[in-house]
Amino acid sequence: MKMKTTLKNQTAFFLIALTFIANLISAGNAQRPTSSTQKSPAVETFAEDVHSYSNPRAVRVRNVDLDWTVLFNKKILQGTATLSLSRSFDYYTTSIVLDTRDLNIEKAEISDDGKNFKATTFKLGATDKILGAPLTVQLSSNAGFVRIYYSTSPNASGLQWLTPEQTAGKKTPFMFSQAQAIHARSFIPLQDSPQVRVTYSARVRTPKNLLAVMSAEGNSQNNNVRNGEYRFRMPHEISPYLIAIAVGDLQFRSLGRRTGVYTEPSMIEKSAFELSDTEKMVEATEKLFGAYRWGRYDLLVLPPSFPFGGMENPMLTFATPTILAGDKSLVSLVAHELAHSWSGNLVTNATWRDFWLNEGFTTYLERRIIEAVYGKPRREMEATLGRNSLEEEMASMATRDQILYVDLKGRDPDEGFTGIPYEKGALFLRYLEETFGREKFDKFVRGYFDSHAFQSITTADFVDYLNKNLITANLQSARRVSIEDWIYQPGLPINAPQPASDAFVKIEAQAKNYIGGKIAANKIQTRAWTTQEWLHFLKSLPQDLGVKRMAELDRAFNLTNRGNSEIAFQWLMMSIKNDYSTAYQRLEEFLTTIGRRKFVRPLFAELVKMPEGTKRAVAIYTKARSGYHPITRASVDEILKWKNQ
Ligand code: BES
Ligand code: ZN
Repeated sequence: MKMKTTLKNQTAFFLIALTFIANLISAGNAQRPTSSTQKSPAVETFAEDVHSYSNPRAVRVRNVDLDWTVLFNKKILQGTATLSLSRSFDYYTTSIVLDTRDLNIEKAEISDDGKNFKATTFKLGATDKILGAPLTVQLSSNAGFVRIYYSTSPNASGLQWLTPEQTAGKKTPFMFSQAQAIHARSFIPLQDSPQVRVTYSARVRTPKNLLAVMSAEGNSQNNNVRNGEYRFRMPHEISPYLIAIAVGDLQFRSLGRRTGVYTEPSMIEKSAFELSDTEKMVEATEKLFGAYRWGRYDLLVLPPSFPFGGMENPMLTFATPTILAGDKSLVSLVAHELAHSWSGNLVTNATWRDFWLNEGFTTYLERRIIEAVYGKPRREMEATLGRNSLEEEMASMATRDQILYVDLKGRDPDEGFTGIPYEKGALFLRYLEETFGREKFDKFVRGYFDSHAFQSITTADFVDYLNKNLITANLQSARRVSIEDWIYQPGLPINAPQPASDAFVKIEAQAKNYIGGKIAANKIQTRAWTTQEWLHFLKSLPQDLGVKRMAELDRAFNLTNRGNSEIAFQWLMMSIKNDYSTAYQRLEEFLTTIGRRKFVRPLFAELVKMPEGTKRAVAIYTKARSGYHPITRASVDEILKWKNQ
């Protein structure tokens, strides 16, 4: 046995040495050797990722095995991450560089066989504000495994620790992760680049009265059996930003054959009602774009501090409770996160420059799902809202940021989180649909998912596939398509699709009549208006509406007290702009109970435009800050120039 190992060692060393020399000779040749359309399951993406210290070309993590104890009293995860490696014979290296942020590294070990580990040396480099710190671990020539003993910081950017008071139930604490874009490194030392795909498994120890869930298999077996130890496994190769965990007093309710929802017990009824169309949505998406390949699709409705609307963690979408409107009017968010099971999780952006491949495709798919489940008028309303908000946002956006293939070098990938990847991306795909016809386009999209399943791809890969499979086959219609303008130029091409909604045309007419003094506020016909119609109505009004009109509308429609988060947000923005003080108490309540950044950030940004508003903002933030997630906090800190006080 021992001799066999030694022999293997020698052979391997010889091979590595040989290829090392060969590599020196052909140095500089760093091109990805395979075409993106090839079907081989082991296609490896090599794309320059300016947001990772790792070098997956030389050594690549294949599996992550986590062993964590969740320590609520210290607000830390403590344990080990064991990484399985595959070493390249073309790019020899004696160490592996991992991404970390604020991790406390205790020790590092390596192993040839994954069973016998021995200590090795490691070095934590200097911390970069955006990227964190590189962790370099010394490897032996044969090492196939690295094990890191570590704990997280209580301020880990990818975790939020909630006190019992910050939960719906008020009795037990809660913890959840949010790894996209580059926060996985704040709770796992790994190659935190979306082009590195890994399977993962985890053993998680928690207080006995709490349930742990992860973006993996294992959740349903664990349901209701609370013994303080939970096991998970993700058998498909996913990008690290999709690893997710939540721990709390969670209850489960089935929604369909393979769908269900987790949330705190007091939220379960409301959540199950709101999300009752989920199974239908999965079926509709399968019919359009091919099989759902992940087994179960569950949702987790989080406490209100969740910084995003939704996060497409595989098998377990994380969602804000602000979508619980009581009338299912905000479930396009579910369609969106579900769509990521195809665009994003199955076919993944290789770097954050390619983010539009995730979000543009997903926003396009989201609208197709909405059309299939709720009809075309609803799709057109949402698409119109999307295009309008894009144009509004673009008006004050640097041109370099209006490009789908955005340059993020030296910047936080968060800066790419704008309407451009979402709405311009979706318009581009809708444009292709309109140009080539739905039948051909749908076939193309299905082929795109099938041929790139479980791969990470770049914008260039997409363009290549588009040219080969849609453009050249239909040159007649393709003559008008300028991929160059759509992907590499700022703004919207003049022939960008213009969604059209009859219902919205009527709304605009009524808004105009009201502003023109032709009809009184209480004579506006609002019966049976949907959330989308209310939003469009409010957005159709002039920005400087004035306090008198604000009060009129409020009296007629009780807008200050609307529970619907989107309508409330829109109304509160208008209230700040018009200094409508009647709404200020509601504003404070909204900002101290909801931590969703999409709402919180613009409200604070609007407040600080005036001296009085700045005072109000500071007073509110003093109360709200400790309840906000690190991501929301960072955004508001910047607006208020908050120095940790
Ligand atoms: N994947 C995103 C959320 C995200 C993107 C988190 C980048 C961190 C970095 C998710 O799918 C998303 O787009 N959520 C939206 C809602 C959606 C309906 C547009 C959100 O949270 O607002
Ligand atoms: Zn998304």
